[in-house]
Order: sequence, then structure tokens, then C-alpha cells
Amino acid sequence: MQVEKFYYDNKIVKAFGIATIIFGIVGMLAGLWAAIQIYYPAISLNLAPTTFGRLRPLHTNAIIFAFVGNASFAGIYYSLQRLLKARMFSDKLSWIHFWGWQLIIAAAAITLLLGITTGKEYAELEWPIDIAITLVWVIFGINMFGTIIKRREKHLYVAIWFYIATWVTVAMLHIVNSIEIPVSFLKSYSWYAGVQDALVQWWYGHNAVAFFLTTPVLGLMYYFLPKAANRPVYSYRLSIIHFWALIFIYIWAGPHHLLYTALPDWAQSLGTVFSIMLIAPSWGGMLNGLFTLRGAWDKVREDPVLKFMVVAVTCYGMSTLEGPLLSLKNENAISHFSDWTIAHVHIGGLGWNGFIAFAILYYMIPKNVGH
Ligand code: HEM
Ligand code: HEM
Repeated sequence: MQVEKFYYDNKIVKAFGIATIIFGIVGMLAGLWAAIQIYYPAISLNLAPTTFGRLRPLHTNAIIFAFVGNASFAGIYYSLQRLLKARMFSDKLSWIHFWGWQLIIAAAAITLLLGITTGKEYAELEWPIDIAITLVWVIFGINMFGTIIKRREKHLYVAIWFYIATWVTVAMLHIVNSIEIPVSFLKSYSWYAGVQDALVQWWYGHNAVAFFLTTPVLGLMYYFLPKAANRPVYSYRLSIIHFWALIFIYIWAGPHHLLYTALPDWAQSLGTVFSIMLIAPSWGGMLNGLFTLRGAWDKVREDPVLKFMVVAVTCYGMSTLEGPLLSLKNENAISHFSDWTIAHVHIGGLGWNGFIAFAILYYMIPKNVGH
């Protein structure tokens, strides 16, 4: 009998892992600098690029797209190959994806610090960079779907469903929200106007949370948590049900960012209703993660990967209960202009996304050293 030999591409995982660490540090230092300015504004050094208004979008873009983005790519490239028992479709596309993404980050950092922005939160980058993002995303997609097509394992594990949902939806959100009319090389105006512009923007903004900060991260949870705990997923059926419920419900919740605005009342209420419904599929994922640890809690005492995972999954549960409460109009009237929103963002962003990133780095780095 002939034994077939193949090797996974660990170099690309290592590269995305290193980028995660670098941009984690950069993104959090930018956040810290912005935080100190709230208390002590003079630390802006009186320079335009380091004032709060420019450091804040630098922080959000660096931490979401560079830190969490690179962490997701590292985890996806690691787990996809192993779940499909196949090397990535094309090493060349992997590296174009890697360097393309890092160049986009560099372009984002420079333009944001110079004050070049579309003014749309989490979609601040100007039109040439938007086009570059689209191209790199397509390359990532060809590489991922190519690997799925040439796989040696028939079953597509639930983590891969989460990766596919991420790719499809982010492509749709980015393209629709970035339709803009360029007036010069680095200035454009949104195609939409007035309340339509706001609705499209927050349909995008909310689903960036859903499909850039949550679905890939749930995929990572479903691969790395059972691996680290050495246990099967608590309920595979639950993972499938909450996957479909999550992606169907999330896409309607955007208007909760526009309560008390000119958006028609019925649309605001629709956003609130779907936000409340979101508790169920979100908690389905959170409980599936925590119950996977049944009988393995003793390992949490010893294993740093599981320690980070437990914090991450718990923060996921907390932010997805808090979010729906923030979407109630009577509650939002109190919270909207307060630091409560900021706290909610960081339970989700730092607690859920950040701690999963730390967990998978602790899992992958020892396995990847020297490769
Ligand atoms: C069931 C899930 C969730 C719901 C229903 C929800 C709902 C909300 C609501 C109502 C707001 C306040 C809007 C405002 O007053 O302007 C908000 C803000 C925000 N949430 Fe969530 N949230 C959820 C989960 C998460 C998670 C898991 C994250 C991060 C990973 C997150 C990130 C954010 C961010 C970044 C903002 C601030 C948006 C801005 O810049 O104004 N959310 N969310
Ligand atoms: C050391 C860690 C961090 C520090 C010191 C920090 C600091 C800050 C500060 C000062 C702000 C502005 C708050 C305001 O306008 O009042 C902010 C906003 C924000 N941060 Fe962080 N941050 C950290 C980590 C993270 C992480 C890991 C994420 C997640 C992915 C994140 C995502 C965001 C987002 C999305 C906003 C905008 C919130 C909004 O518009 O409502 N941050 N952060």
C-alpha cells in the first residue's frame, strides 16, 4: 500500500501569528495613549496626528483589523488545513494575502494619522484602500474555497461553516457600505445620503461586530477549545442550530445603533427585537463552549490556553447579554452617550476577541516553533 505524504503550511501561520503580536501591542498602546488623553490631554504633545480624534480611529482600526484580523487568519490557516487534511490551495495566494493585508494596515495607519478619512466609523479608509481590501479578500476567498474543494476529509466541521459565513458576509458588507464617489485620489463621498447613509453604515458597523469579530472567533473556539481540553464538542447539533440562527438574526440588528434618530420608528423597533432574539443563538455558542469543558475543569487550573478560553467565552456571554439590554430604548437613553458603551465594546473586543487571540497563540506557538 502506498502512503501519501503531505505537509501543512506552518510558515504562513507563523507570519500571521507574529503580525498579531506586533499589532496587538501597537493597537493597545494607541488605545492607552488615547485613554490617558481623556484624563491628561497634554499628552497629545500638541501634534495633530497624535490628538484624540486621530488616535482613536487608529486604535479601533489597528485593534480590529490588524490585531483580531491577523489572529483570525493565523487560526484559520492553522485549523483549516488540519480539519480538511490538506495543505492550503496555493502558497502564493497565502503570501499575497499576508503581505497585502499588512500593506493595507500600513496605508491605514498613515492615512488615519494624517487625518484622511471617510468619516464612517470602522469604514474610515479612503477608496483606493477599499479597493485593495476587496482584492485581498477575494484572494483569501479563492485560497480558502480552493482548499475546501481539494480536501481529503469529506465532512465540513462547523468551524469551517463559521469561516465561510465570515468570508461571504464581510465581502457583502464591505462592498455595499464602501460604494462612494471619488472626488480626488484620497477623498470620496458616500453614495448614500441622509438616513439611508446612516442605516447602511450601521448595518455594516453592527455586522462588522457579527462577522469580523464574532463568526471567525466562534470558528476558532470550535476548533481550539475541544483540542485544548481534549474533549468532543458538548453538542454538535447545538453548534449547527446556533450557527444558522446567529447568521440569520444578526443581519437585522443594525438599527439598534440609531435609536432616537430620524430612522423610522418601526425600523428602530425591528433592530431592538432582533437584538433581544440574539441572546438565544449567542448563548447557544457560549454554553456549548463552556459545557465542552465538563469533566475537564481540573485542566483549567494548569493550562494557560484553557484559562484564556474560559475568560473569552465568559466575556462572550456577558457582552451578548449586555448588548441586547443596551438596545432597549429606555435603557439606551441612559447608556448611549456614556462610557457604558465603551465598556460593552471592550468586554466583547478585549475580553472575547483578545483573549481568544491570546489562547490560540499559546496553543499554536509551541507547536509551530522551528517549522
Ligand atoms: C447579542 C449581541 C450584541 C448586541 C445585541 C449588541 C448591541 C449593542 C448596542 C445596543 C450597542 C450600543 C449602540 C449605541 O448606543 O450607540 C452596541 C455597541 C457596540 N457593540 Fe455591541 N452588541 C452585541 C455584542 C457585541 C460583541 C460581541 C461585540 C464585540 C466583539 C460588540 C461590539 C460593539 C461595539 C464595537 C459597539 C460600539 C459601536 C459604536 O462605535 O458606536 N457588541 N452593541
Ligand atoms: C489595552 C487595551 C485597550 C485600551 C487601553 C483601549 C482604550 C480605548 C479608548 C481610550 C477608547 C476610546 C474611548 C472613548 O471614546 O471614550 C477605545 C475605543 C474602542 N476600542 Fe479600545 N482599548 C483597548 C483594547 C481594545 C481591544 C482589544 C479592542 C477590540 C477588538 C478594542 C476596541 C475598541 C473599539 C471598537 C472602540 C470604539 C468604541 C466606540 O466607538 O463605541 N479596544 N479603546
